[in-house]
Amino acid sequence: KWEGLALTPPMGWNSWNTFANHISEKVVRETADAMEKNGMRDAGYVYIVIDDTWSLRQRDANGSLVADPEKFPSGMKALADYVHAKGFKLGIYSCAGKTTCGGYPGSWGHEFQDARLWASWGIDYLKYDWCDHGDANAKDAYARMSAALRAAGRPVVFSLCEWGQNRPWEWAEPIGHLWRTTGDIYDSYDGRKGWESGWKRLLDLQYSLVDSSGAYDGLNKFAGPGHWNDPDMLEVGNDGLSLAESRAHFSFWCLLAAPLMAGNDVRHMSEEIRAIMTDKEVIAINQDPAGKQGFRALAEPAKSIEIWVKELSNQEWAVCALNTDTSARELTIDWGRLWTIQGKHSVRDVWAKKAVGDTSKPYTVRVESHDVAMFRLTPAK
Ligand code: DGJ
Repeated sequence: KWEGLALTPPMGWNSWNTFANHISEKVVRETADAMEKNGMRDAGYVYIVIDDTWSLRQRDANGSLVADPEKFPSGMKALADYVHAKGFKLGIYSCAGKTTCGGYPGSWGHEFQDARLWASWGIDYLKYDWCDHGDANAKDAYARMSAALRAAGRPVVFSLCEWGQNRPWEWAEPIGHLWRTTGDIYDSYDGRKGWESGWKRLLDLQYSLVDSSGAYDGLNKFAGPGHWNDPDMLEVGNDGLSLAESRAHFSFWCLLAAPLMAGNDVRHMSEEIRAIMTDKEVIAINQDPAGKQGFRALAEPAKSIEIWVKELSNQEWAVCALNTDTSARELTIDWGRLWTIQGKHSVRDVWAKKAVGDTSKPYTVRVESHDVAMFRLTPAK
């Protein structure tokens, strides 16, 4: 993989969650324009990633992938130039198998050729899927594309997407910068539709997937600068989530040090959603240079509360308290029970934008259903 990239969780936008096979050059250009104007680029969302269905169904006579000229009439090089001129980076998608999940050509047997083509277009990020892989070995297949990207010479953030089926957290760190840990997300709190799960269900999975020793301590120890667990892209702002559920989803992805890949139509979003996605204090928790993934410190179903914590640099901590109830609740955060946080800290409510005392006494706050209260703790003088 390329060293020096993704030292903090990658941020950007990906076409799949909203556009699926309706992706086009027009959408990508308008998305870049919108992200330039609405503050997303300046908040750190720089990778604009085109997911599945961008190519023709057949390679050309030379075996090269061809961008669908109806969807991308100016071609990928011109599109890369367009987004680069605005300070963005362009990402693309392929699959380690013979065909992509959408039935387009995959890169199996064409890894070096495809990587050279993408480099010639100016591609900066590759999401690499896992459909139609036959009996291929996942580690070998992803390592081959990693080598191909290196050989092509253009720095590329490499995103593995084999859904955690081969425990990529155990082997993918030298190969890529992020790896999916689970199946697909959809815009729900904790629903399930076959292969797709709501964000709360995915959150719980990040925590409960065990390591090979059988220890029940989650995936957090596998994440760090340049190598991230990926619980899938954001559904923030999409129809199936209330505003509270969008805010909580965003808060938890920040707390997990997850990649922040927007998955909504950023050309048409409410001011509330824009404000959530560009909140500097909450993004700073995600982008903290120590790169520690957060974990669940406390769950009390009877009180409808879960508290998750993330260690930050300089003995600071982020704390996120979730109301799991279907109606609003008063949540009490008893800092003394969060035993990993040593010493007295002053507490700032990062969504309410105010100081709320220190960790010497519990704090009670009213939280809407499926919403969070989120705090940044700084060692008290
Ligand atoms: C499966 C992946 O998990 C999704 O994120 C998306 O890339 C689709 N494949 C595209 O077919």
